[in-house]
Amino acid sequence: MNKSELNNINIEKAANIILAGGLVAFPTETVYGLGADATNDEAVLEIYKKKRRPRFNPLIVHCANIEMVKSLTQFSSLAEELAQFWPGPLTLVLPKKENINLSNIVSAGLKTIAVRIPNHIIARSLIDKVNRPLAAPSANISGKLSPTSKKQVEKYFNSDILVLDGGECEAGLESTIIASEENKLILLRSGSLTKEIIEEKIGRKIIEPEVKSKIRAPGMLKSHYAPNAKLRLNITEPRENEAYLAFGKEPKFSGPMLNLSKNSDLTEAAKNLFSYLDRLDETEKEIIAVAPIPNKGLGVAINDRLKRASISG
Ligand code: TXA
Ligand code: MG
Repeated sequence: MNKSELNNINIEKAANIILAGGLVAFPTETVYGLGADATNDEAVLEIYKKKRRPRFNPLIVHCANIEMVKSLTQFSSLAEELAQFWPGPLTLVLPKKENINLSNIVSAGLKTIAVRIPNHIIARSLIDKVNRPLAAPSANISGKLSPTSKKQVEKYFNSDILVLDGGECEAGLESTIIASEENKLILLRSGSLTKEIIEEKIGRKIIEPEVKSKIRAPGMLKSHYAPNAKLRLNITEPRENEAYLAFGKEPKFSGPMLNLSKNSDLTEAAKNLFSYLDRLDETEKEIIAVAPIPNKGLGVAINDRLKRASISG
């Protein structure tokens, strides 16, 4: 999207809704977010209500620039190194500064906040215009598939909420979440920026906690991202009555089938994952069988989402 196309998007109207305490859905490079003024308790509460999200599950604070991030968090030199990935699909969990103008509900009472600077012209323009941090979880009902298009957002919220249209999201998978604690980096959620790329750029290892529980329980409720259908994973031969989500070479199959990437390209597969699951779900088959996805690079995040989607909650 270029600057002139941006002129057709009503950023000003959206900003006014947010400044008045309302919610607006907007595109980011990862998935669509459901945004509210992060300094306004009631607006933030409304996000939890609309999403039917458990109140213990904190939200990501989206900032326009690094100054805004630094006004809210204790920004270590380690964080400074990670900031090279901004704007982009990386969320950092950092200690919160004291006496800041931010709703406590955003971080569900934790002493840390999750922050990110998104890389999408609509998201950036909106935060700029509002000139306040925006709390924005993915714009889905809690536990359901994250939306990667305006149409998917509208399926969840009807015409209740203004949705800014940025077309299909480029990455299609949520941001990678890293906590920076006492000179250690901990992976809280794999996402569209791979751990390997971060490690290579900053020359440091990122730890993967064995149990992603406690604070760490980020979105990481075990069952998540679920379509209505049940998922069967690592399937190369789907059954007759199933829908099939293929990857790479397709089996002979007469039922509904979509291919995440015919060339076995993981970036393309990540981009298509949520929207294809949604489309196969619309066939109303009881089961979606899913091809094996290599567990390397972006495949790690894809498999994480598939695993959670396969657990019935
Ligand atoms: O790509 C994304 O990150 C998208 C777009 C809209 O930016 N947002 C997104 O938000 O995925 P959400 O709410 O669906 O996921 C936020 C995750 C949750 O798993 C939450 O538990 C975790 O971030 N989180 C937020 N604050 C945290 C904190 N202080 N400590 C640990 N985890 C936190
Ligand atoms: Mg989410």
